[in-house]
Amino acid sequence: MELRERIRDVVDFPHEGIVFKDITPLIADPVAFRTAIDRLAEAISGEDVDRIVGIEARGFIFGSALACVMGKGFSIVRKPGKLPWRTDREEYSLEYGKSVLEIHEDAVQAGERVVIVDDLLATGGTAGAASRLVERRGGVVTSLAFVVELAFLGGREQLEGRRVHSLVEY
Ligand code: PRP
Ligand code: ADE
Repeated sequence: MELRERIRDVVDFPHEGIVFKDITPLIADPVAFRTAIDRLAEAISGEDVDRIVGIEARGFIFGSALACVMGKGFSIVRKPGKLPWRTDREEYSLEYGKSVLEIHEDAVQAGERVVIVDDLLATGGTAGAASRLVERRGGVVTSLAFVVELAFLGGREQLEGRRVHSLVEY
């Protein structure tokens, strides 16, 4: 199954000059979606993992399915103002702007081994902020797992030696 064939390029979205990698055709195809989850599970199979953390919004799609098939708990990192209880927050830069991510104070327990999941790694700003939030809770980021990696944007380097898995690289 060639996952790349299920990822659509959308030119000039959300801003001029950005080629947006649209994963909606991939998740609309049950075989491609299942293949992506199985390959993410295989990528992290050598790691001792307690919990999956997904990043809003598209990281929830892949992260929750992965947590479910692996029998792990799932915690969420969200855009600001969405989480109802006590939160920690972290600012970050995006390929097309600046933003903030938040996590519940009890989303990760001290010493838990965590895999952070998102649909796509671009500059690494988002994943870096999520990693810092998990680590401030006392979690250990065993790896970060993405369906798509825009390698030309250097996100891996931004993640400062943390282990990175991706299924489709551009
Ligand atoms: C996209 C993508 C990643 C992030 C990657 O999310 O889903 O989370 O950008 O970019 P970076 O590596 O340069 O930080 P976006 O902020 O568009 O939010 P969404 O998933 O809520 O649409
Ligand atoms: N997030 C950051 N850059 C992106 C891109 N080019 N396509 C999809 N999501 C993104």
